[in-house]
Amino acid sequence: MDHFIKIDHIGIAVRDLDAAIETYRALTNIEDCHTEVVEEMKVKTAFFKIGDTNLELVCAVDESSPIHQFLEKNREGIHHMAFQTDDIRGDLKRLKDQGFKLINEEPMVGAHGKLIAFVHPKSTNGVLLELCQCEGSE
Ligand code: CO
Repeated sequence: MDHFIKIDHIGIAVRDLDAAIETYRALTNIEDCHTEVVEEMKVKTAFFKIGDTNLELVCAVDESSPIHQFLEKNREGIHHMAFQTDDIRGDLKRLKDQGFKLINEEPMVGAHGKLIAFVHPKSTNGVLLELCQCEGSE
C-alpha cells in the first residue's frame, strides 16, 4: 500500500505499569491485555486492543530506557503514535527523501515481533511517530 494503513496504537508513558494496567482495565472495561518486555527498547509494555487499534502502556525497565529519560522531563502521558505500514523500509526511505528526521534509519524488532522505527517529533509537529509492520507483511 502506498500510504499508512491505520493508527496501530497510541503509546502512553507510565511510571508503574501494574498500577496503570489496573487503571486502564477499569477505564476501558477490557480485562485482557498483552504484556511484553522489549529488551532492545528497555521497556515493558501492555497492549489493550480497542476495536481496530490499541493502547500501549509503556514503562522503563531501567534508567537507560528512553521512557525513563522521557519521564525525567515530562509527566506521564501520551508518548507516541504508531502508524501501521506494510512497507516500513520503503516508508523510511520516502520520509527521509522528503526531509523528515528519522530516529531509526533501519527498523528494529519491537513488541509482538513487529518491525518498528521512530520519526523525530521535530519534523512532525511535536509528535513522536512510530512506524510498525507486522512480520510477514513485508
Ligand atoms: Co509503540
